[in-house]
Amino acid sequence: MPRFDKHIFICQNKREESHPRGSCLAKGSNEVTEQFRKRLKELGLNSKIRANSSGCLDACEFGTTIVVYPGQIWYGGVTKEDVEEIIQSHVINNIPVDRLIIKDKRFLKNG
Ligand code: FES
Repeated sequence: MPRFDKHIFICQNKREESHPRGSCLAKGSNEVTEQFRKRLKELGLNSKIRANSSGCLDACEFGTTIVVYPGQIWYGGVTKEDVEEIIQSHVINNIPVDRLIIKDKRFLKNG
């Protein structure tokens, strides 16, 4: 039996404001992480679903970037307000949230 059913990795990388690639932390990834942890706990899912802070996921231009396993689904531009939809649709019902999926072929499984 796997330790967790799903892992959500949320980029927490921070760069100088002037850096051309930007960074997810500057785009609010800390709030996104806190909201995932809060809601997973409130829903009693935190023993099965893990929300982890991560370093740079190398998708900086799409930040805030998160990736969900299994399935390796990449989401970009994620805000605190998107967290509930990701939990309800993807985490609970296994239906990825298409509008937030990074459409760049480097991040698509069959891209
Ligand atoms: S800074 Fe978040 S993916 Fe690189």
